[in-house]
Amino acid sequence: MPGVVLAHEVDWEGFRAAARALALGGIPPDSVVWSVRAIDDLFGSEAPPVSGEGAFRLPRALVSLAETVIQASDPQRFALLYGLVWRAFQGDRHLLEQITDPLVDRANRLAQAVRRDTHKMRAFVRFRVVNDGGEARHIAWFEPSHFIVEANASFFVRRFAGMTWSILTPYRSAHWDGAELAFTPGASRGDVPDDDRLAEYWRVYFSAIFNPARLKIGAMTSEMPRKYWKNLPEAAAIPELIAKAASRTEAMEQQTALSAPRPVLRRARAPAALPNSDLARARAEAVQCRRCPLWGPATQTVFGEGPADAAIMLVGEQPGDHEDLAGRAFVGPAGQLLDRALKEAGLDRAALYVTNAVKHFKFAPRGKRRIHVRPETGEIEACRFWLEIERAHVAPAVTIMLGATAGQAVLGRTVAVQKDRGVPLPLASGWGVLTVHPAFLLRLPDQEARAREYELFLRDLTAARTLAEAATRPISPS
Ligand code: URA
Repeated sequence: MPGVVLAHEVDWEGFRAAARALALGGIPPDSVVWSVRAIDDLFGSEAPPVSGEGAFRLPRALVSLAETVIQASDPQRFALLYGLVWRAFQGDRHLLEQITDPLVDRANRLAQAVRRDTHKMRAFVRFRVVNDGGEARHIAWFEPSHFIVEANASFFVRRFAGMTWSILTPYRSAHWDGAELAFTPGASRGDVPDDDRLAEYWRVYFSAIFNPARLKIGAMTSEMPRKYWKNLPEAAAIPELIAKAASRTEAMEQQTALSAPRPVLRRARAPAALPNSDLARARAEAVQCRRCPLWGPATQTVFGEGPADAAIMLVGEQPGDHEDLAGRAFVGPAGQLLDRALKEAGLDRAALYVTNAVKHFKFAPRGKRRIHVRPETGEIEACRFWLEIERAHVAPAVTIMLGATAGQAVLGRTVAVQKDRGVPLPLASGWGVLTVHPAFLLRLPDQEARAREYELFLRDLTAARTLAEAATRPISPS
């Protein structure tokens, strides 16, 4: 009986080559034994010594299904897949439409399990920050149910391109050094050091988003299965939050007063390399800025303001009508809402450096009114010059990006605010937290949506504060 030994658990190339050789050689599925080499083999898979000539084309849908199913932890998956390949090769072109067929049904179920596991991995990988010879290094431990690390590594590269990280799992580890992705054999949980500045962030973040009035333990554990709890810093808060849910609901109902602002946050590290006078000089030079045409119709440049050693920088989109006249960021209606939210999130605005992605008001005249117009990419790019200077001087531990324009200016790419909001995004210096712009809240037509979105906005601001508090504590060597 022909035997195929694949080089590793997701050896798609090896499987494909062997399936081709077997099908062309006329070897039916029940005559083949599939296995995986116990130790990763650099020299590839061992295909059976069969030969055959002819065309070997598989339907695209089958290839796509097979690429997912091969990640399943079921040892029978190769036999199952070859069974499907064999039938397609014999001419069954509509194979996958037969959803009640036992083989097709089994493959679909496995693919679904892999997709679910993929979703969990993307949601529940939690990086720890460790001190690696003076450099911050991010390490995560994750225990997937299926062999999904290789297929998902590029997702983490895209998401965390700017930092160096390793994701360790029992069967395979992925490493990104900022330029190249590499895989090494599996690891154990003990390989992840305990020094963890981000753990506190996740704990408080989860506590902040936890709404006791909506507590549904069943739904919560299905979204965040207990299996993952041990690796989720925030899970430590769950039992206590559940225990206190009733009294917290009551307290939330009774709470009318705004919470008192927290103590001023300042960086607990070396002062910025650039002297403050340089920031003052940049501010003075920006008055004459002609980097894009927006200076023409605007009243004045609205530069950022706040302590040059602020731990948090807040970046908005551009000055509005009020800001253009006053020469100060966030003093109009959006600014008033922002001030209220900052206070409720325990942040003292006077301790933050507040600025905008674009420093001139862009508008369209309508009668006596000036209507806000969103800045274009070219204008954002032109004004990045000033934002970069501000960021280099202030070097904040956390940058809060209010809305898509701020996100684009800071991250250098277009962003999906609802998708990336609230989670710590690594920046070249410090962390970014993306959230909605307060003007978005003002524009929401119905009260209920506004209240709901305002809570989420508070959650993101609270998360940023927690991250800044954790990031400004010195890292202990590990
Ligand atoms: N909106 C912004 O983005 N910035 C301001 O300064 C005011 C409104």
